[in-house]
Amino acid sequence: MQVSPSLLSANFSNLEGDMEWLNRSDCDYLHLDVMDGVFVPNISFGFPVLKHVARLCQKPLDVHLMIVQPEKFINEVKALGAYYMNVHVEACTHLHRVVGQIREAGMHPAVTLNPATPISLLEDIIEDVDMVLLMSVNPGFGGQKFIQHTYDKIRQLRKLIDERGCQTKIEIDGGVTLDNAAQLAEAGADVLVSGSTIFGAQDPVEVIRQMKLC
Ligand code: DX5
Ligand code: ZN
Repeated sequence: MQVSPSLLSANFSNLEGDMEWLNRSDCDYLHLDVMDGVFVPNISFGFPVLKHVARLCQKPLDVHLMIVQPEKFINEVKALGAYYMNVHVEACTHLHRVVGQIREAGMHPAVTLNPATPISLLEDIIEDVDMVLLMSVNPGFGGQKFIQHTYDKIRQLRKLIDERGCQTKIEIDGGVTLDNAAQLAEAGADVLVSGSTIFGAQDPVEVIRQMKLC
């Protein structure tokens, strides 16, 4: 299992401290939740902050844009050196064009689905993206309860990916804990995003190690 700790639950009065153990851990990415107060009912952090995070972080960046018109910020995300650029299907009228622009910019395109958005909306884009992020809570806040229906969606998405013979990864975001990580792996998840479980732990490096074993 790959693990992508979410910066949203970090200690913002000591980001250097959090980046120290994160770099030392065996996590695979750092997940960055950008919010605009329009697409989601909250505002997190923006590029002036993320520039410093990117400088401190030695892990590949998994950028999750919970904003309207994410295509406006492709250059900013690229300037961070991002590995994945995740855009919401619900936020892009011309999704195919945006995915192409992300790839042209040299990043790995990923698309995100809200809990009530069906897997069928991916049928005409699945072969063009490197990862699908399934929201397992309504986006906007850390520490929410995992939505059980996500397991069905993971299985549906795994089926679609296998039928098409593509290598697209499945990432899960929201309410992921050490209690549901194994079940998520069994359903077909490849990458787990986790905020409060990892950053709230006494020993986050050990939690990451255990989650990766799932
Ligand atoms: C929610 C964000 C998540 C969030 C997950 O809108 O997209 O990445 O940080 O937090 P936890 O793991 O606490 O549910
Ligand atoms: Zn996220």
